[in-house]
Amino acid sequence: MSVAHYFETMDYGPAPESDAEARAWLSKHDRGFRHFIGGQWVNGKSHFDTLEPATAKVLAKLSQGSNSDIDAAVKAARKAQAGWAKLGGHGRARYLYALARLIQRHARLFAVIESLDNGKTIRETRDLDVPLAARHFYYHAGWAQLQETEFADYQPVGVVGQVIPWNFPFLMFAWKVAPALALGNTVVLKPAEFTSLSALFFAELAEQAGLPPGVLNIVTGDGDTGAALVKHKDVDKIAFTGSTEVGRLIRKETAGTGKSLTLELGGKSPYIVFDDADIDGAIEGLVDAIWFNQGQVCCAGSRLLVQEGIAEDFIARLKARMAKLRVGSPLDKAVDMGAIVDKVQLERISALVKQGIAEGAQCYQSPGAATDKGFFYPPTLLTNVHPASTVAREEIFGPVLVTMTFRTPDEAVMLANNTRYGLAASVWSETIGLALDIAPKLQAGVVWVNSTNLFDASAGFGGYRESGFGREGGREGAYEYLKLKAWAKRKARPASKPLPAAKAKADAGLPMIDRTAKLFIGGKQARPDGNYSRPVLSPKGEILGEVGEGNRKDIRNAVAAARGAEAWSKATAHNRAQILYYIAENLSGRRAEFAGRVAAMTGSRMAAAQAEVDAAIKRLFTYGAWADKFEGDIHTPPLRGLALALKEPIGVAGIVCPDEAPLLGFISLVAPLIAMGNRVVAVPSERHPLAATDFYTVLETSDVPAGVVNIVTGDRLSLTKTLAEHDDVDALWVFGSDKASAEAERLSSSNLKRTLVDHGLATDWFDPAQAEGPVFLRQATQVKNVWIPYGE
Ligand code: NAI
Repeated sequence: MSVAHYFETMDYGPAPESDAEARAWLSKHDRGFRHFIGGQWVNGKSHFDTLEPATAKVLAKLSQGSNSDIDAAVKAARKAQAGWAKLGGHGRARYLYALARLIQRHARLFAVIESLDNGKTIRETRDLDVPLAARHFYYHAGWAQLQETEFADYQPVGVVGQVIPWNFPFLMFAWKVAPALALGNTVVLKPAEFTSLSALFFAELAEQAGLPPGVLNIVTGDGDTGAALVKHKDVDKIAFTGSTEVGRLIRKETAGTGKSLTLELGGKSPYIVFDDADIDGAIEGLVDAIWFNQGQVCCAGSRLLVQEGIAEDFIARLKARMAKLRVGSPLDKAVDMGAIVDKVQLERISALVKQGIAEGAQCYQSPGAATDKGFFYPPTLLTNVHPASTVAREEIFGPVLVTMTFRTPDEAVMLANNTRYGLAASVWSETIGLALDIAPKLQAGVVWVNSTNLFDASAGFGGYRESGFGREGGREGAYEYLKLKAWAKRKARPASKPLPAAKAKADAGLPMIDRTAKLFIGGKQARPDGNYSRPVLSPKGEILGEVGEGNRKDIRNAVAAARGAEAWSKATAHNRAQILYYIAENLSGRRAEFAGRVAAMTGSRMAAAQAEVDAAIKRLFTYGAWADKFEGDIHTPPLRGLALALKEPIGVAGIVCPDEAPLLGFISLVAPLIAMGNRVVAVPSERHPLAATDFYTVLETSDVPAGVVNIVTGDRLSLTKTLAEHDDVDALWVFGSDKASAEAERLSSSNLKRTLVDHGLATDWFDPAQAEGPVFLRQATQVKNVWIPYGE
């Protein structure tokens, strides 16, 4: 071959990384890998093969975890938890630090094991997966060290079950394990069946490092093993990363169990290129967005939205770049794309591409892309894609980019948000004003400005909408592994006494004039759709008045009104604060009247009822105060740039209120949500709703825009179900009943609402430690990290 040829093709020979050490490690386990339970290596009753995707040959045998393996692991974790928590932050920090150092010391072996097992390139495992995994352990060693001061009001959740996917086996392992252990929890982790080896290698190192037995347990196996972990009664929390489909199953399975849950699910993330973008930069970015890790990335930039004027030129240049991508052996350091994780995934990708073509897309694939030995698929571009087509909507989870064009920034935002997912987005424009105008408008947990696929342990990662809930990394991720001490003390709510039969008020003398409180929808008092009402009784059974019997239609109308009040979410925090103070002022002007109402409904003494009204006024002030102070953060991850952690409202929230403290409970739930810019549909106390219905007259005089607070009275359980099933409700808070809590969690799986429920535990609404503050504000917001790199 001549020099001229090399010059022409810029081709280079193979640059393989040695796999000798990794293969030697594998051969030590050639009779099959075991589970790591309670510090022991436990052989499974049966085994299954894990393949090397680049060759389709068997790489190792893994133990298939059974129910009893899971049970043994959970027991070991439970036994170890108290001691691990008692070790204190500094003790745990030392372990995490030691683990981080061990990852660094064995970095190359980790990288090779990961490439062999997953099929991803050594360039990526060496430069990204493994260093980032170490960074997670370092970063969380820091939270362990600071836990006693920074999270003084919180305690560990307990025993955590973690189920992870195959696309970033070791990185996801670190994302899950590091924060959980740092904050005093113990862990049972199930790796993905295709890629368990790096987790097992880590367990060997943890054993060498003297991690106490039972603190980290690893049970390998398939979905059934994962399901057994999710179902186990003695697990306090489940943290899952994987498909939206399985995430939904887990939401249903854990509903009503009291287990806390975080889900990091799929995506169909937009990659938006404006006509003033740095085109070469944007094209190179796309290589990282969709061909990185063979596109098997939950936040892959898989939908290219390019501005019409530059589209033709952009696609031509993109194809030229694609033609130069090298696909081949993952251990070759000069290869851009490795193998797909498994045959099943390969078939899924190719079936979806075929479907895309059948639906009218044009397909371009990189020429000369490897090799028939393993599971390879070429870099693929689908053009002429309709926004409604399957390939534009479904997560392909492979190296397949679909592209569409837009004309205006508004259209770009509309197309970008036209998905049920909301994990990530990239925005490319040299006009920083434009990029920063677009970023807050995108429904996504991460927005990368002129960049893509940047991650760091300091910046929480997680989705909006059906991409799941909860964050991993950052301070917000730490809270996912903590429980408020004041909440841990709550006791089961005592059963409420049945009310006596209804009777007219004893001293009424004259027949009652109609005193049916209306519903409050879109800023107007509204009759209930069904035209039914229900009496509100005093503890003696006297009829104090009536309220509307809200039904499905009323909830629909209220949700529509809340949707329409979107301007509230964009109002300034100053503006929202002022309105909260104004509500408090107007309530305090009617203190005696409200206290009388509370006393009549609950039978409490007037002084106690006045104390409730006063506490409600104070709480409104508290949230007025927080409205412009519960702000975001600026992270300085290890790059020249910033990540702005914005706390954004979730959208439309349903609230179901408890019977205890009927006014204060209602205010304690409504105020944090509206303070953070959400619009709400509130169902007042079922038994004592009149203070809340009186309250709409306070709202009417307090400049609260129509639709921000909507009130629908009626049956707690049926209204909870309706709210939970409504796909335009983004969050649901249910207090006052374990049954309603369970239904809220179960039915919210349809659109994966963020739920906050009390599981039938009674909150002391007068105790600020339980009933107000950041623990509610965090639930009322979701963090969006906007990454803004500014140079080399
Ligand atoms: P999956 O969601 O089935 O697997 C993820 C993990 O969950 C694995 O460890 C698996 O064993 C476990 N699992 C499966 N069923 C379970 C159950 N019922 N209860 C508890 N754990 C269970 O993902 P899969 O089948 O490997 O891939 C299918 C599709 O999911 C992919 O094509 C891709 O679209 C998507 N996916 C998305 C990921 C993400 O990070 N967003 C990661 C992996 C897959």
